[in-house]
Amino acid sequence: MRQTTFSQMVVLLGLGLAVSSCTGGGEGPIVPPPPAPAEYADMHMPEGWWSDEAKAEEGRKLFIGETNPDVNCASCHGKDGKPVKAGARDFRVGERMKLYSDSVWFWRISEGVPNTKMKAWKSKLSEEDRWKVMLFERNFGLSGKGWDPAKKAWVAAAEVGKAPAAGAPAEAPAGGDSAASPEAPATEPAATPAAPAAEGK
Ligand code: HEC
Repeated sequence: MRQTTFSQMVVLLGLGLAVSSCTGGGEGPIVPPPPAPAEYADMHMPEGWWSDEAKAEEGRKLFIGETNPDVNCASCHGKDGKPVKAGARDFRVGERMKLYSDSVWFWRISEGVPNTKMKAWKSKLSEEDRWKVMLFERNFGLSGKGWDPAKKAWVAAAEVGKAPAAGAPAEAPAGGDSAASPEAPATEPAATPAAPAAEGK
């Protein structure tokens, strides 16, 4: 039952276009994904990888099944990111994908989504390969960005892990006069905006 005739595809594409004009890409309303379970919540993209084009290119080869024909994300998600199987996540919809932290994204690749065609890939992909394939997938809707775990947001890839440029007193003053510098609001909580997850419906 794997064959899809060309005319069926055209009908599906037409439907998809009709629906996508008013929702998040034909996949229903844009809602935040569930939080990653504890064992994934603290897993993040290895340092420096968000800007690493070579790693993303390895991810592309994994995604299209070139590295391992048993792992072919493109067979559902589409080579160019346009889903070819109904219901497959459309990574081009940045409005939706920006609600996914790297931990959630990694968790879904690792464990799949229950009761859908999206299966668990952790037995076929090493941890590193799962991060690489994610690098490639984020290029469709969040190109040039990376998830910053401290800021809990997608930021420019080169800025991931960097302290905010201004207004952050980096270190306590050295030496014995730590009571000085009254202008340093050292005890003020970092300006972490509330998670944007609830918005964008
Ligand atoms: C047999 C078809 C199929 C293949 C192959 C496939 N996926 Fe999926 N994928 C889906 C479907 C369907 C969904 C939507 C699941 C849902 O409804 O939440 C999905 C969703 C996802 C999501 C988002 C999960 C969420 O919570 O929204 C990610 C990330 C993902 N796939 C990554 C991958 C990667 C990486 C590969 C290759 C290693 C892959 N997929 C291969 C069908 C597939």
